[in-house]
Amino acid sequence: MNNTRSEMALRADGISKTYSSESGVIRVLNHINLELSKSDFVTISGPSGCGKSTLLMILGALQEPDEGTLEYDGVSPYKLNAKDRAQFRSTNIGFVFQDFNLVPYLNVRENILCPGIVNHSKDWGARSAELIESLGLSDRADHYPDQLSSGEKQRTALARALLVEPSIIFADEPTGNLDQANGQKVLEHLTVYANNGAIVMMATHDKEAFNVGNKHLQMAEGSVLTLT
Ligand SMILES: Nc1ncnc2c1ncn2[C@@H]1O[C@H](COP(=O)(O)OP(=O)(O)O)[C@@H](O)[C@H]1O
Ligand SMILES: [Mg+2]
Repeated sequence: MNNTRSEMALRADGISKTYSSESGVIRVLNHINLELSKSDFVTISGPSGCGKSTLLMILGALQEPDEGTLEYDGVSPYKLNAKDRAQFRSTNIGFVFQDFNLVPYLNVRENILCPGIVNHSKDWGARSAELIESLGLSDRADHYPDQLSSGEKQRTALARALLVEPSIIFADEPTGNLDQANGQKVLEHLTVYANNGAIVMMATHDKEAFNVGNKHLQMAEGSVLTLT
């Protein structure tokens, strides 16, 4: 029993989410259950609007579900107060947003270093330099987001998510704006990251990207159709 628990890194039970707007109420997620272990690289696919981004944000402790529980090795992020939850996120979770969410008045290097502002466990200078180099951003490090191509923004967002070496990475369509070679580079980074013991969850429209990883979750209208 103890062994089983210590190997389980993420457990979500009965996660449901409804959005209300002027045009009515939409049930975006319907009692989703998921158990993931360290080194799992899970890809999520499904039609636009089926709830992929919402699921990633809920599992990433960014948006509370209406129903259901989320637990990471015995810690329930939504039972923590806002400050402790932010601390939990900054230590354990990296998030690559679908629309990047780069800070417009910070350059590439400064954007990448952002998670280090909250997480003081070490000086992140060397780690940021290594990510800038390995993600091909060396000659863009002093540029601002509005001077970057979509692919460069995407890689900056990925480097920022990887900075503090979190145990879980959520990536929302991280290859959506990249050409084949750059997309491949991002997938290789995420694969190596998972192989080193992290959990990686990636939403993707791209068939090739969907087949990367060891678990594949097909969604439709707020429910998990298959997990293979
Ligand atoms: N903040 C919100 N308020 C109201 N509806 C929302 C909100 N965020 C997302 N939705 C709706 O919820 C559904 C699922 O969205 P999303 O999780 O972004 O899906 P996906 O990432 O699969 O495209 C969509 O119909 C979307 O329009
Ligand atoms: Mg989405």
